[in-house]
Amino acid sequence: MKNIAVLTSGGDAPGMNAAIRAVVRTGLGRGLSMWGVYQGYSGLIEGNFKRFGTRDVGSIIQRGGTILGSARCHEFQTEEGRELAIRRMRGAGIEGLVVIGGNGSQTGANELNKLGFPVVGVASTIDNDLYGSDVTIGVDTALNVALNAIDNLKVTAASHRRCLLLEVMGRNCGYLALMSGIAGGAEVVAIPEVEVVPEHLAERIQEAYERGKPHLIVVVAEGAKYNAEGLCRYFEEHDLLLGYEFRSTVLGYVQRGAVPTCSDRLLGTRLGYEAVEQLVAGNTGVLVGIINGALACTPLDVVVKGKKPLDPWFLKAADIMAH
Ligand code: F6P
Repeated sequence: MKNIAVLTSGGDAPGMNAAIRAVVRTGLGRGLSMWGVYQGYSGLIEGNFKRFGTRDVGSIIQRGGTILGSARCHEFQTEEGRELAIRRMRGAGIEGLVVIGGNGSQTGANELNKLGFPVVGVASTIDNDLYGSDVTIGVDTALNVALNAIDNLKVTAASHRRCLLLEVMGRNCGYLALMSGIAGGAEVVAIPEVEVVPEHLAERIQEAYERGKPHLIVVVAEGAKYNAEGLCRYFEEHDLLLGYEFRSTVLGYVQRGAVPTCSDRLLGTRLGYEAVEQLVAGNTGVLVGIINGALACTPLDVVVKGKKPLDPWFLKAADIMAH
């Protein structure tokens, strides 16, 4: 294999640039020609890619987002679209592809691989919901952004004796809410994996009020049954305000665009490097991730069908720590 391309797809994640840089420099170090594909799978279909030298990935390791851009591409969801993408790559002499992204992106990678084009995936999403890697690129940074927000909200909550609800991203996964809630000392965490009963949350809030807490933080996952605003409204409409004033804050994309932490830069570098090693060794159709602290390859077929559960230990701990 002499020509390898790299693309980023799905939601951007802090640390993606470190992974792009690692892919390109590992390939160049092996004497290969490296290609950057712009705008994810759309770029493949449109032939929007170019040869990358080492300076094309200079000074990007500290930057959030992805220098390659990302896009949602409907055409790629059709067999014709995927075949066209392969023809474009072959036309340019590209023989292998690294796909940096989460669930949707790795589903696309798997489809390309099944059509006979060698692909290796790199685990990247702030949601940490991708099977085949205990931790994915972007999670650590997103968690630290949420944690900063909780620390700041606590100050205002205490000044004004308020109950502040913070909504964090994560799609259908409560990982970001649970972990930032534990690390930030939230009294209540509402996530999709555990049934949310507002009256039970209100009991928790009541206990905290009776213990004389001047502030109260509730972390809500965007995929939970009630979002932060919905919970505030429910408490108001059902007369469950319990001595506090309620306000909600939605963190949203602030979590995605942050400067990557050291941990995400190292993870991006590690996974990007290994993806090229695997591709060159002919171990394709796999996702490169971290399992039990070590680099691990999981077949993409298994990745796209797998479900990553939350560790019940953390669910228990979150409950105990909030008392
Ligand atoms: O997968 C990352 C993520 O930020 C999710 O947490 C969120 O639900 C989704 O992407 C938002 O997607 P979009 O970028 O299409 O708004």
